[in-house]
Amino acid sequence: MAGQDFVLTTQALKKSFGKLEVARDISLSLPRGCRYALIGPNGAGKTTLINLVNGQLKPDSGRILLEGEDITRLLPADRVRRGLTRTFQINQLFPDLTPIESVTLAVTERDGTAGQFWRSLHSHTEAIDEAFAILQQLGLADVATRLTRTLAYGQQRLLEIALALATRPKVLLLDEPAAGVPKDESAALFEVIAALPADISVLFIEHDMDIVFRFASRIIVLVAGGVLVEDTPDEVRNDPRVREVYLGQAAHHG
Ligand SMILES: Nc1ncnc2c1ncn2[C@@H]1O[C@H](COP(=O)(O)OP(=O)(O)OP(=O)(O)O)[C@@H](O)[C@H]1O
Ligand SMILES: [Mg+2]
Repeated sequence: MAGQDFVLTTQALKKSFGKLEVARDISLSLPRGCRYALIGPNGAGKTTLINLVNGQLKPDSGRILLEGEDITRLLPADRVRRGLTRTFQINQLFPDLTPIESVTLAVTERDGTAGQFWRSLHSHTEAIDEAFAILQQLGLADVATRLTRTLAYGQQRLLEIALALATRPKVLLLDEPAAGVPKDESAALFEVIAALPADISVLFIEHDMDIVFRFASRIIVLVAGGVLVEDTPDEVRNDPRVREVYLGQAAHHG
């Protein structure tokens, strides 16, 4: 392992739902600061893998290591505290809060001062400043005080990433961050993801291959719960097995 600084490792993760094997011996290592894409057909087990890594699901066997420490048995909230954070395929925002309120709340939650938030707003200027800096980083400063439900959908998806950043993640797992975003806006969203601080390791699920090849440093191809290939975009693009999976899928969808 000398020379490679892996922040997250999974070792032979297995998970079945009844007779359906959704994770077959998944062993992966994410280097610090990586931009990895997790791709594969619908139902391949991509979201399940993220659920296993963040602790929403318990693996049947296998281990998960964060910075070399075994976190396999930790609750999701404890994993977040250690720097492992995820976002969801479906939007989970508070529509009637503003971005600055939501992100400030997330910052105070992280610091364990959330209970005092509504009572003494003015004692929390540091949290508000931090929240604003995060919103700025994601290009949301202009809409920081608008109600979340009035934001463009792409901005709402960025706000989810802002909330994740408020936890100060080392590893960020993004489950289809551009789902529901018009195609011409999703590249802009991924520009922002690509520009996240270099010490944050990102694993994102994305179906649009143009986006994947443009923004991923490496690609993991998952098929029927197993890793088919894990390689650079160039290698994956030219891999006949990957072509077969995707051409097969294209044929199905007519
Ligand atoms: N809680 C569950 N109980 C039973 N089966 C499940 C459960 N969650 C997922 N599955 C099944 O496991 C398989 C993998 O699902 P998963 O959501 O991980 O796929 P995915 O790769 O994220 O697909 P998509 O691209 O459509 O989001 C699917 O067949 C799904 O129906
Ligand atoms: Mg999914």
